[in-house]
Amino acid sequence: MNTTTVPPSRRVLADCVRTATAAPSLHNSQPWRFRLDGPVVDVYADPARRLEVIDPAGREQLISVGAAVLTLRLAIEQAGYRCETTPFPSPAEPELVARVVAGAPTAVSATTEALAAAIPHRHTNRWPFAQLPVPPEALRRLVDAARHEGAVLTIATPAGRDRILAMAAEAGRRLQGGPGYHAELDRWAGQGVRHDGVAPWAVGPWDALEAVPVRDFGELSELRPAEPFEPYPTILVLATAGDARPDWLRAGQALQRVLLTATWQNLATTPISQPVEVPQARRLLTDPATGLSAQMVLRVGYGKVAGRSPRRPLSEVLLPDRAR
Ligand SMILES: Cc1cc2nc3c(=O)[nH]c(=O)nc-3n(C[C@H](O)[C@H](O)[C@H](O)COP(=O)(O)O)c2cc1C
Repeated sequence: MNTTTVPPSRRVLADCVRTATAAPSLHNSQPWRFRLDGPVVDVYADPARRLEVIDPAGREQLISVGAAVLTLRLAIEQAGYRCETTPFPSPAEPELVARVVAGAPTAVSATTEALAAAIPHRHTNRWPFAQLPVPPEALRRLVDAARHEGAVLTIATPAGRDRILAMAAEAGRRLQGGPGYHAELDRWAGQGVRHDGVAPWAVGPWDALEAVPVRDFGELSELRPAEPFEPYPTILVLATAGDARPDWLRAGQALQRVLLTATWQNLATTPISQPVEVPQARRLLTDPATGLSAQMVLRVGYGKVAGRSPRRPLSEVLLPDRAR
C-alpha cells in the first residue's frame, strides 16, 4: 500500500522558525536567517551580525546558529514531524549552515516534549545561585545531552573550577584592553529599546566575592550593584573533537540541548565565553591528551527566575522565497 505523507504547512514551519529564534546567541546578536521552501527550512548565518572583535573566526556565531538549529529541530518534532538535518549542504553558499527538512508525521517522544516545553523558559541567568550542590544525576543528564549531539561535557573538579574561573577573569581583562572592544560592546549592549543585544534588565550584579567572572556589558555595567554569588559554582566545559565550522555547529546544537536539559531540571545556566575568546586561555580549558577543543564554559545551579531577552520579529529573520 502506498502511503502519502503530508508535510507541515508553511504556517506550521514559520511557527517553528519563530520558536527557533528563542535560542541563545552571543550578546543576543541573533545572527541567523531562515528560508522556507516546502518542507525545507534553510538556516543561514548572517555575516552582518558577526562580532568581529571578540569572535573573529565566527566560531561563536556558528555556535549561536547551531543553538537555533537544535531549537528548530525540536520545534518541528514537537509539531509531530520527523526531521533531517544536513550541515553545510551547499559549498557554493558558505553562509548556509544547515538544511532542516520536515518529513513524515510521527509520534512525539517524551524527551522532545520535555525539551520543547523548556524552550520558552530557558534564559541566561546572571544572578547569584543558591548554595546548593547540583545532584550528580542532574549533571549526568547534561553530559548525556551533550553526547547526544556529538560533543563532550566535562564537570570541573574543585581545583579545575578555581583555575577556569581565574582564567575567565583574566581573559575578560585582556579582552577589555583589545582594539575595538568597547565600540563593539556599545553596539550590542547599549541602552534604548531594541529587539536585539543584551537587555538592560538581564545583566545582573557583579560578584562581591569576585569568584564568578560575570561578563562586562560596558555602559550597562556601570550601575551594577555587587552581591555575593555562590562561592563554589558548578562549572562545566563543553568541547568537541574537531575545531572546524561543522564542529562549531555541532557545539551549538549540543549547547542548546544541554541548556534545555538543565532548564527542564529547574537548573539556571550562564554561558561564560570570555576564556574561549582568548586563544591562550582556551587551550588550557581541555586536557591536551584528549585532543578536544573547548567551545564554551557553563555555570549551572539553582537560581531565581531570570527575565526574557527580546527577539527580532519573524519578518526580520525570514528571507524571501527562492526565485524559481
Ligand atoms: C556563543 C555564546 C556565548 C555567550 N557568552 C556569554 C557570556 O560570556 N556571558 C554571558 O553572560 N552570557 C553569554 N551568552 C548568553 C547570551 O548573552 C544570551 O543568550 C543572549 O543575551 C540572549 O539571552 P537569553 O539567553 O536569556 O535568551 C552567550 C551565548 C552564546 C550562544
